[in-house]
Amino acid sequence: MKNGTQDSTDRAVPLPFRRILVTGGHGFLGHHIVPRLRAACSGEILTPGRADYDLLEPGAADRLLRDTTPDCVVHLAAKSGGILDNRLRPADYFYENLTINTAVLHAAWRAGVKKLLTLMGGCSYPAAAVSPIGEDQMWQGYPQAESAGYSVAKKMLLVQSAAYRAQHGFNSLVLIPGNVYGEWDNFNLTQAHVIPALIRRFSEAREAAAPEVVCFGSGQPTRDFVYAGDIARLIPWFLARYDSSAPVNLSTGTRIRIRELAETIRGLTGYAGRIEWDAAQPDGQMDKIFDVTRLRGLGLACPTSLADGLRRTIAWFDDVRVTGDVRL
Ligand SMILES: NC(=O)c1ccc[n+]([C@@H]2O[C@H](COP(=O)([O-])OP(=O)(O)OC[C@H]3O[C@@H](n4cnc5c(N)ncnc54)[C@H](OP(=O)(O)O)[C@@H]3O)[C@@H](O)[C@H]2O)c1
Repeated sequence: MKNGTQDSTDRAVPLPFRRILVTGGHGFLGHHIVPRLRAACSGEILTPGRADYDLLEPGAADRLLRDTTPDCVVHLAAKSGGILDNRLRPADYFYENLTINTAVLHAAWRAGVKKLLTLMGGCSYPAAAVSPIGEDQMWQGYPQAESAGYSVAKKMLLVQSAAYRAQHGFNSLVLIPGNVYGEWDNFNLTQAHVIPALIRRFSEAREAAAPEVVCFGSGQPTRDFVYAGDIARLIPWFLARYDSSAPVNLSTGTRIRIRELAETIRGLTGYAGRIEWDAAQPDGQMDKIFDVTRLRGLGLACPTSLADGLRRTIAWFDDVRVTGDVRL
């Protein structure tokens, strides 16, 4: 239990599966989710990587399912990255995500898997969605153009999940984490999301005693960030208790301005220089907050405060920069 709050996930949720296959289990969220699965399930947890089964290769998903014979799949393998990389490689984001997801869900159904859980992202919501963004807004418009290759491909998970449930009775679920951050995130500046990018830039500026750090945009947009450890804590609950293709937002629903986020990270990293805002760079959506009414209705929450989550992430980043066990 964290922060003195309690929700349904604090009551132990033993998972009745014989063998859970996790794709993408060595990625950012996999590092948080796999230990939670190990704690909740007495069966085997298998985490083969891309070197074992490259899911872009024809037939690889079928082979993976045939070789591992799981009764549950947690599908995390994806090509994911920040806005800069999405702008550079929209075709790769589209093709790889559509190909991997279509193949893995299909192979899992054919293999007789009892339950599959997968994640899509909040960027799949329409660019014009009105905050707080509820799950019912998903199909009300086209997503932000710069990352549409990724986000439209990911959105097909919802269609595939509902279609396979309707035709085959296949029990798959699709959850929608908001803007996730935490230990094991990607700190490579062309691929990173905003929080790891800021942590890295302020940490390096502190060490170089740089007088200023230039941040993109006006700093005025507002966002809602969720700690990866909170997402991981929810996964066993959904595997045990949720049987629907209706998506659920996993976030805090708490609004923070990017300018305030940058100031907070500056303080926590110990950087003493100035922040300059390059307002010539695009801001993206001005207000993007997720509606977590559905999550709360299930008795669940993402309770870690931004300050606590940032402190843990920064402490981790300081350690792993020395050992090199981080994506830079
Ligand atoms: N991070 C976020 O903010 C966020 C937010 C919402 C939703 N999500 C979703 O959560 C899931 C996990 O994201 P993440 O941030 O943990 O991503 P990540 O750190 O990039 O990890 C992705 C994993 O997918 C594997 N993978 C990629 N291409 C593959 C292929 N062709 N064959 C087999 N494995 C492949 C990678 O393996 P290698 O390392 O071996 O390449 C890696 O382990 C994704 O579905 C993502 O869309 C993430």
